Amino acid sequence: MRATDWLLVLAFLPSIVLSQHVDICNAKPKDLPLEPRCSYRSPDVETPDDHTPEPEVVPESTNPRVWELSKANSHFALSFYKHLAVSRKTEENIFMSPISISTAFAMTKLGACNRTLEQIMKVFQFDTIKEKTSDQVHFFFAKLNCRLYRKKDKTTELVSANRLFGEKSLFFNETFQNLSEMVYGAKLLPLNFKMNPEQARITINDWISNKTEDRIRDTLPTGVLDSNTILVLVNTIYFKGQWKKKFDKKAVFSSDFQVSSSRTCQVNMMFQETKFKYKHFPEDEVQVLEMPYRGDDITMVIILPSRDTSLSQVEESLNLKKLNGWLDQMTETSVSVSMPRFKVEDNFNLKEMLQELGLTDLFSAENASLPGILEDDSDGLFISNAYHKAFLEVNEEGSEAAAATAVLAVGRSFNPYREVFQADRPFLLFIRESTINTLLFSGRVVDPCDQ
Ligand SMILES: *[C@@H]1O[C@H](CO)[C@@H](O)[C@H](O)[C@H]1NC(C)=O
Ligand SMILES: *[C@@H]1O[C@H](CO)[C@@H](O)[C@H](O)[C@H]1NC(C)=O
Ligand SMILES: *[C@@H]1O[C@H](CO)[C@@H](O)[C@H](O)[C@H]1NC(C)=O
Ligand SMILES: *[C@@H]1O[C@H](CO)[C@@H](O)[C@H](O)[C@H]1NC(C)=O
Ligand SMILES: *[C@@H]1O[C@H](CO)[C@@H](O)[C@H](O)[C@H]1NC(C)=O
Repeated sequence: MRATDWLLVLAFLPSIVLSQHVDICNAKPKDLPLEPRCSYRSPDVETPDDHTPEPEVVPESTNPRVWELSKANSHFALSFYKHLAVSRKTEENIFMSPISISTAFAMTKLGACNRTLEQIMKVFQFDTIKEKTSDQVHFFFAKLNCRLYRKKDKTTELVSANRLFGEKSLFFNETFQNLSEMVYGAKLLPLNFKMNPEQARITINDWISNKTEDRIRDTLPTGVLDSNTILVLVNTIYFKGQWKKKFDKKAVFSSDFQVSSSRTCQVNMMFQETKFKYKHFPEDEVQVLEMPYRGDDITMVIILPSRDTSLSQVEESLNLKKLNGWLDQMTETSVSVSMPRFKVEDNFNLKEMLQELGLTDLFSAENASLPGILEDDSDGLFISNAYHKAFLEVNEEGSEAAAATAVLAVGRSFNPYREVFQADRPFLLFIRESTINTLLFSGRVVDPCDQ
């Protein structure tokens, strides 16, 4: 077996940008030569509970396949989140971009065959898409990307950038390169890994930090690239949104945050009282609030456990059905919101997490099957590692739509019917594209102290 390996890098940030290939957004399947090397058709599996087709309504002007793909991504997002959550200490924050993980691995799927392909299909839930042709997944991914990254509002930046960095002495299969560029906007840039892996590492890290407005730096640690590296795949996602109803700077006050039963800290608490989508679900012991960014299609969903319920209890029982159930039942409500200003930075080894979920062959020199990537069909390719780094900052900025906001004096309210949403204890958060319900980011804020 050839001593070549393949490294996958993911760098994420809440704020994203897609390629110049606008044409894919209008293309029909037959217009595109989207024929990956291998396809996987799942045998007619009994769908587990979560996947039972609900008699649900596909949103207007949404391709039903794109809708399904988005749902598959959300299933993956939650199972991955839950897996990560139990591997962390209860007092640690979490932040990541599940859609970017799905996107990056869908790119590896372009060149995958056999059991490697099957595992990608299963772990990322691409096998739940009715049209059981794996080749079509790329087409619908492209359509989903068109949907997510088109601009609706000048003040909201949602940008994703993808790139392949390949060893310059090798020839990469042209079909693979073309597909990857067409679907994911990921052009191949040749680098000299063999002679100068350290320089290549710096080039890649610089590219990532450039695409993420300098928020994500040093993604690849020293020493992870060596002269055996042949391909590095990078996906970045960047989001910057202004609240549709921003918090008044003058209404920020210092307050206690209950990190755990034995620890509190001081945070800068933001406050506003206005109408948001909101509901209290006593039987699930949570309050759920959805705050839109300008442009309305991207929102932050906050799930706040009741005061005597632990965040891990809520995490354990969470699944897509439950989350969507909550989102469907929420209504515009007058609510007085207090939430801390915070920053979350996170990074983790994706390889370990995904291996535990069943994605093993892709990372195995012995078992990986990625014949579609190099010209000569060489077999010895595998992914040596995968990194994920993410960042989120939330503050009172947001929207300039101050006129829509009715901020009263801090802590005082003249509306006796308002609901109170006081995020002074750990909560879950999701940033989603709400018209197609794609989870762009997910995380938990347990420790917003010292900021
Ligand atoms: C590149 O991949 C395509 C499909 O995956 C295959 O048909 C073609 O033969 C490959 N080209 C070379 C030169 O190996
Ligand atoms: C893997 O896929 C290739 C086609 O690319 C096929 O020739 C080979 O037999 C497959 N191997 C296994 C173990 O299924
Ligand atoms: C790849 O794209 C280039 C440029 O668009 C084109 O000239 C070439 O024929 C394509 N190759 C394949 C194998 O599709
Ligand atoms: C990223 O690179 C482009 C082109 O080189 C440059 O114009 C831009 O200012 C850079 N952005 C950042 C944040 O460094
Ligand atoms: C490769 O696959 C075989 C057969 O499923 C398995 O026994 C072995 O542990 C795998 N090797 C690695 C490194 O995952």
